[in-house]
Amino acid sequence: MSGDVEFDRIAPIYDETRQPPSPDEVDTLVELIGGSRTVLDAGVGTGRFAVPLRSRRFDVVGADLSLEMMRRARAKGVPNLVRADLHRLPFADRSVDAAFMAHVLQLLPEPTPVLRELGRVARETVVIALPEWLERGHEGPWRERRERYREIAAELGYPLPARAPRYRHTLEELSRIAPPKDVRRVLRPAAGPGERREAFGRWASGWFGGAQVPPEVHAEIVRRLLAERPIDPTRAGGPPRESRFVSWAARDLGPSASGPAASQ
Ligand SMILES: C[S@@+](CC[C@H](N)C(=O)[O-])C[C@H]1O[C@@H](n2cnc3c(N)ncnc32)[C@H](O)[C@@H]1O
Repeated sequence: MSGDVEFDRIAPIYDETRQPPSPDEVDTLVELIGGSRTVLDAGVGTGRFAVPLRSRRFDVVGADLSLEMMRRARAKGVPNLVRADLHRLPFADRSVDAAFMAHVLQLLPEPTPVLRELGRVARETVVIALPEWLERGHEGPWRERRERYREIAAELGYPLPARAPRYRHTLEELSRIAPPKDVRRVLRPAAGPGERREAFGRWASGWFGGAQVPPEVHAEIVRRLLAERPIDPTRAGGPPRESRFVSWAARDLGPSASGPAASQ
């Protein structure tokens, strides 16, 4: 499993590369798991969601493969953390009220076994945060920029190891595993013009070398990339971004469910 190594390396800068969840996103999640007390945050990472959930008085346990990511979550006051693979969680059946997973799906070659495992350990509800970029895939200008980043890094003497594949899972595909109980859409406002440049810096530092090359080399690569493919600071920041929170009744995903979720 390469995820832990990759995220151990990214952990020191991970929080700079992602926005915290918006109040609307937290409210939506809280509504979907309303009535729960114990919540598993599967792939808890640095606690981006675990922290606001704890402040809403949920009893959160986080599971993740990366000790370095969880070290950050602990430093933010998330005490219950377990190093575990989401395919084989060390929890009894129906031992938490709800299981939640954000931004992990794209790292899984096949979502069904993990959804099934979440359905096994949860008594009531399973919720997945499905950002729209996950459906859009990883093609287009960002992919070209990433490849160019690697080329420039190699020219400067820092050949980067291949990045683990990112899988594209759609709402349609997830709905075939078991029909969701609810799908909530939450809009984030479009990025302003200045923010686009900043977002580019975050993107580049998070995923494409910032954790693997010295900071001055990274800054030089970003400078050259921006010179070659400028980001127009006067252009509007694209459409608002949408997150979807997809929820299932745990019994529809767990071992006693019928259909594809139960047959793997
Ligand atoms: C993109 S981060 C998301 C972290 C957090 N949920 C968030 O929204 O910021 C993905 C996390 O999933 C973890 N992960 C990936 N595959 C995993 C697996 N099979 N078992 C446990 N954790 C895994 C990684 O170590 C990483 O911390």
